[in-house]
Amino acid sequence: MRMYDIIEHKKKGMALSPEEIHFVVEGYTKGEIPDYQVSALLMAIYFKGMTLEETATLTMEMAQSGDMIDLSPIEGIKVDKHSTGGVGDKTTIVLAPLVAAVGGKVAKMSGRGLGHTGGTIDKLEAFEGFKVEIPEEDFFKQVNEHHIAVVGQSGELAPADKKLYALRDVTATVDNMSLIASSIMSKKIASGADAICLDVKCGTGAFMKTLADAKALAGAMVDIGNHVGRHTMAIVSDMNQPLGYAVGNALEIIEAIETLKGNGPADLTELTMTLASHMLVLGKVCDTLETARQKVQEVINNGKAIEKLQEWIKLQGGNPAAVLDYSLMPQAQYSKEVVLSQAGYVSAIDAESVGKSALVLGAGRETKESEIDLAVGIVIHKKIGDYIESNDSVATIYYNDLAKCEAAEKILKEAYKVSDEKVQSNTLIYDIIGA
Ligand code: URA
Repeated sequence: MRMYDIIEHKKKGMALSPEEIHFVVEGYTKGEIPDYQVSALLMAIYFKGMTLEETATLTMEMAQSGDMIDLSPIEGIKVDKHSTGGVGDKTTIVLAPLVAAVGGKVAKMSGRGLGHTGGTIDKLEAFEGFKVEIPEEDFFKQVNEHHIAVVGQSGELAPADKKLYALRDVTATVDNMSLIASSIMSKKIASGADAICLDVKCGTGAFMKTLADAKALAGAMVDIGNHVGRHTMAIVSDMNQPLGYAVGNALEIIEAIETLKGNGPADLTELTMTLASHMLVLGKVCDTLETARQKVQEVINNGKAIEKLQEWIKLQGGNPAAVLDYSLMPQAQYSKEVVLSQAGYVSAIDAESVGKSALVLGAGRETKESEIDLAVGIVIHKKIGDYIESNDSVATIYYNDLAKCEAAEKILKEAYKVSDEKVQSNTLIYDIIGA
């Protein structure tokens, strides 16, 4: 087999055979095929597309290029949840205890944040002593006995994707649906879940800016998952403004705790209840979405959800007292209110800018090596559709460095658009695919 012929086939719009895809992924991962030939193939894929069979084959080849996590020591159906990334997205921290408290099993590997979106693992480290690396046997035992464990990614998951993604990044071939869908799904499949619940974000703070693109990506990922035997469904949800009000690690943890106590923001509460209900049905813990939702509401009302959070934090070495006493969380030294000059209805909040504002404060990572400040961040007070008087605070900035606060404030002020006309609040869930 020759790489030249494979490029030629795709250039002519032909579907690649499983053998050809295997040849490319294996050869490129081993360093036997040069970047320039794979770049040419990626560009041909970009223009000619891939069929579902080709996309599913590429996904499995990339998944199998590294460690395939075997979750079989955990009894029952393991359901994973994956968000394509947003600002203020703390859903995992809420829904993991919700699902576990109802009887589902959450065995999750999560990532750290990079750029304007945060990572679950960083947020969890706001609990003093919380261990994100635990030996595999302890991880299995914890999930079997307590139904919940969330750890950082270990081992080498889908190294072929890592290499191909880096090449796509410099050859203008990232934004192809088949390539994005196979990239995300290869890592999910290598992580070992039996069923996958996807939260595809759509809007200014998301990777997919339009609803059409978000739906197409969700559909492509659902098709791949189901094609390779992993029951997969997707929710397409709004990211045209931050989810909830808090952006920044410890601040987001506090908001997640409040949500588990039943006092959370409406959007975060609704999204986590919906995702948790789908996970419980996918995991066959509940027969219907209605029953699942009722049980989720029950564990919030009777305190079992918050107890599960405390149990989980303790199991992973963190201080569960922080769940009831927020002074035990990392605290920023200073705070500042952000006031806009104009009164009116909030018509837009550029979520990506809010994420960037938190990033410049130190809540996120500019590069993989950056140290993050767990205490700093932003709590917005006004969301789309809310009315603001000219002297109302639209947000509070929690900071440790005045220069950073000033830079963050400038970005934040520009993120808000105000209108004289009344504005409708945003739709939260646009679509549910494959349920
Ligand atoms: N995230 C991924 O993991 N892969 C892509 O291709 C795009 C976003």
